[in-house]
Amino acid sequence: MMFNIQKTLAAMLLGILLLTLGGCGDDEQATTHSGGMMKGHSSMGGMKSSQDSSTTSSLKTVAGRWYTKAQIEQGAPLFASYCAACHGKEAQGDFRWRQRGADGRYPPPPLNGSGHAWHHPKPMITRQIREGSPAGGSMPGFGAQLSDAQIQAVIAWFQNLWSAEVYQSWQGRMHHKG
Ligand code: HEC
Repeated sequence: MMFNIQKTLAAMLLGILLLTLGGCGDDEQATTHSGGMMKGHSSMGGMKSSQDSSTTSSLKTVAGRWYTKAQIEQGAPLFASYCAACHGKEAQGDFRWRQRGADGRYPPPPLNGSGHAWHHPKPMITRQIREGSPAGGSMPGFGAQLSDAQIQAVIAWFQNLWSAEVYQSWQGRMHHKG
């Protein structure tokens, strides 16, 4: 009996040794293995597990808002590549946004919650991004470049710049409109 346990242990140790010495190709396997052995460390361990834990928390809705942290993170680079050129890197808009330009069109407004009261419900904001400005405006539509999920992520990113007051008044308006 005693002998058998020792034998088993020896075999396991040999196995681990072989895995460890297995070279680059076995890295993945070795990581998984030691992750399993040192359970307490697994969340601080390899890339894989730390990513897992951040994904879990990022799937929770941000307090009081409709979107998740994961959506904000997804939206940030999309906003930078598709929207920042007109609306500004921080979504601050063009400072002349209240006045029509020489072409009779309005410059890009801030999307960061400053400036004006937001009274468009989310489906309308979504539509503007997908299809572009209604007649007379100059914003192009992004339906060809961005999926619906990506559009929601971009909205999450800029709405996350809104103060609680701005967000709540926007949400309040939604309720009144039904
Ligand atoms: C070529 C410049 C340009 C780009 C690029 C652009 N926009 Fe706009 N956007 C505008 C302009 C100009 C307006 C102002 C009103 C209008 O013309 O419809 C506007 C208006 C908006 C509005 C309505 C704001 C309101 O107060 O109702 C939203 C929302 C918006 N843009 C989001 C985006 C997002 C998100 C992106 C990136 C996916 C984007 N825009 C890219 C020019 C642009």
